[in-house]
Formats: sequence, C-alpha cells, structure tokens
Amino acid sequence: MFKIGNVQINNPVVLAPMAGVCNSAFRLTVKEFGAGLVCAEMVSDKAILFNNPKTMGMLYIDEREKPLSLQIFGGEKETLVQAAKYVDQHTNADIIDINMGCPVPKITKCDAGAKWLLDPNKIYDMVAAVVDAVEKPVTVKMRIGWDENHIYAVENAQAVERAGGQAVAVHGRTRVQMYEGKADWNVIKQVKEAVRIPVIGNGDVQTPQDAKRMLEQTGVDGVMIGRAALGNPWMIYRTVRYLKTGELIPEPSVREKIEVCILHLDRLIALKNEYIAVKEMRKHAAWYLKGIRGNAKVRNAINECQTRDELVTLLMSFVEEVEAKEQHVVIES
Ligand SMILES: Cc1cc2nc3c(=O)[nH]c(=O)nc-3n(C[C@H](O)[C@H](O)[C@H](O)COP(=O)(O)O)c2cc1C
Repeated sequence: MFKIGNVQINNPVVLAPMAGVCNSAFRLTVKEFGAGLVCAEMVSDKAILFNNPKTMGMLYIDEREKPLSLQIFGGEKETLVQAAKYVDQHTNADIIDINMGCPVPKITKCDAGAKWLLDPNKIYDMVAAVVDAVEKPVTVKMRIGWDENHIYAVENAQAVERAGGQAVAVHGRTRVQMYEGKADWNVIKQVKEAVRIPVIGNGDVQTPQDAKRMLEQTGVDGVMIGRAALGNPWMIYRTVRYLKTGELIPEPSVREKIEVCILHLDRLIALKNEYIAVKEMRKHAAWYLKGIRGNAKVRNAINECQTRDELVTLLMSFVEEVEAKEQHVVIES
C-alpha cells in the first residue's frame, strides 16, 4: 500500500501505460483482476488542445477503474501545461503522468518522450510548470537514460521530486535500447535510494516471481507490468495474490481465458463500435490465445473476422475443440 499525493494505491501492482492497448475496456478488465493502479495510454497534448475527437474519446474513464493515471506527452511547456489543465479539470483521472520514456522517433523528434532524459533542468522546468497549474498529483514515467553513456535517471528523478512531482515510474532501459536487452534494475534501485517520493519499477516483470524479485532487489514501492499483461490480465491477479500470500495460483483454463477475451471484446464494442472493436480485438485475441497448443489455425482465421458473432463463434469452437481433445486424452489414459 502506498500513496501518490493524496491518492491511495491499495497494492503494488500497476498496469503500465500502453498505446493502442490501455483504453477503458482493457483497463477495467485488468482492474477487476485486482491492479492497485491502472495507467491509460499516452495522449498527445496538442491533440487534446485541438479537441481531436478520437483523442477526446481516449480521455473517457469509467468510475470502476479508479484510481487511474492518465499520461500526456508533449515537447513544449505551454501546450503541455494547457493539456494538463484540461485533464485536471475535465476528466475523471486521479493522477496526471508525463511521458518521458517514449522512444519512437515520431515522438522524440518533437522533443517529447525520451528526449527529455538528456536534460534534468528541462525536466524540472516542465514538471514544475505542470505541478503549478493543476490540483491532481503529477508523476513522471521515464526510461533510465538516452543511451548507455547518458544514464541520468537519478538526477532526472531528483529533478521531478524537486519540481513537486509525486512519484516516478522507471523503465530500466535506455531510449536507444528500445525494447531490446535487459532492463537494468540496479539503476531503478539507485533511483529509489535517491528520492523520497514513491518509485515504481518497470521492465521485464514477466511472472509473479519476477515482481517479488524486483520489489526485494530494488526496494521500489510498486511494480509496473506491461507486456506480460497483454492478453493475460490474470497475470495481475496472480501477482497480487503471490505478493500477498506467496501462493502461485494456476493459469486459468482455455475456456476461462476465452471468456475474459469475449468480455474484453464486448467492452471494446461498447466503447468504440463493432467494426473498430473487432479489428482492434484481432491483436488482443491473438495474445489471449498465445501459448495454447494448436492455436495457429484460429489465430490466422481471426484476421478475417468482421463481426462480433464471427469472432465469438470462432473462439468458442476453438475452446470446444481444445476441450474435446483434453477429454480424449483423459479417456485414453
Ligand atoms: C504496445 C506498447 C505500447 C506502449 N505504450 C506506452 C505509452 O503509451 N506510454 C508509456 O509510457 N510507455 C508505453 N509503453 C512502454 C510500457 O509502458 C513499459 O514501459 C514497457 O513495455 C516495459 O515494461 P514491460 O517489460 O513490463 O513490458 C508501451 C509498451 C508497449 C509494449
């Protein structure tokens, strides 16, 4: 249990912000699996200010998702502050997070995302301006540095703290690493030792045991889980439970996995519309099916689905096929 400003976080397991993934449909599903905090996908400051309809839709938050952190990104103080004010006054978010980790060139070439990591003074300046302009607690999500020769995580986190930021989440990779190599948990530990605000560690937590190891090795207040939760929201539940009781509960059955997938699909349809939701759900469904034996055919067929009925029929007949095979094995043995 820890606090970000006045926001109480009931357990250390945090869903990472993931663009194209962490909309209300997925976040609510993860929340129901017990996450202490869920983060929304990043939103561009300028898109908020231009009132872009798709972006405004991304600001929707269901009451049941709370506490929730909404992430904004931008390269200029003026627009970042204005966007933060909008989020502060017009959304249901509990926390405003600033992205300082996004490595993709489209973002860094506008001086946004990971570009900031080269300059603690700029971080101080930007964060202080946002903190001054809003009521909600402000946090920062950062990578450890730009490249292996420019790892300023400690200085950058201290700048966030001095500027009034209420927590930092640290992904243990540099910008240059993108998603390659291993996350460096040592630097995360150094950050934790250097600031008094809560630190959330991130990078390569793939199992509940990894989460425990990260907490023990680095002393962080929270562990943020990204890719391991894709098509796998019960990873959150298994981790919360493991950290609390030491019990490692088994993976759900194939039927249970697909039922959660269909719940996710229905929430996405309610949020967007059937056409968009089914298209978006193709990648999620492939993630839900990951690791289930004999899934190649159904994974290919998903990409042809246009409607909810087609997708659900396909998934449920796969479940029946798997269950029939399991029964066959039991009878034979
Ligand atoms: C599909 C995808 C989208 C992401 N989008 C964001 C984002 O919008 N904002 C952000 O700060 N990080 C984003 N990230 C980075 C994750 O939040 C996280 O830092 C990274 O995946 C490392 O954690 P993991 O090893 O648990 O996946 C994204 C990662 C993935 C895989």
